[in-house]
Amino acid sequence: MRFMFVAALVLVLAACGQSGSGGSSESGGPSAPTYTDAQNQAAVAALPAPYNTANYDAGRTVFAQCRACHTVANGGANMVGPNLHGVIGRRIGSAPNFNYSPPVKASDFTWDAEHLDRWIANPQAMIPGTRMGFVGVRDATQRRDVIAYLMVESQR
Ligand code: HEC
Repeated sequence: MRFMFVAALVLVLAACGQSGSGGSSESGGPSAPTYTDAQNQAAVAALPAPYNTANYDAGRTVFAQCRACHTVANGGANMVGPNLHGVIGRRIGSAPNFNYSPPVKASDFTWDAEHLDRWIANPQAMIPGTRMGFVGVRDATQRRDVIAYLMVESQR
């Protein structure tokens, strides 16, 4: 009995250890709330499949590539790319005060997980002539993780 308890405790500690630096303090401005690792992973677990099995921390790591050009926090600035807060469920090319490329302006759909998956895999293949100068994330698991991260962070 005692052994099983210790084994379970070790498992829990190992799971916590994977979470890295903790919190998501880089996700927004000075007033942005911070969330614990447990809150972040619980938010992911509440997403629709297959995103509920994603890894929040892995998604945050993939999003580091996007962060060079995008903010995701509510009220975050447009940079090289538009602010991504609320992007899921938003019509393409509709962030306020962002000057999109002509092919993006001419596109007409609402961002959902399927569109994001195609976009992140290869933006130039999905919308030739887009100004998003990003080669894409080829790995499907990394795309699942970063989309789950976006689903959580773009609604906070
Ligand atoms: C080198 C800069 C750069 C990087 C890196 C980058 N983007 Fe972009 N992104 C842009 C630009 C610029 C646009 C606008 C494209 C246009 O108008 O053609 C854009 C547009 C988008 C849009 C459409 C937004 C809307 O309002 O319709 C999404 C979604 C998006 N990017 C997600 C991502 C994600 C997720 C990543 C990381 C995996 C990423 N981007 C990496 C520059 C970048």
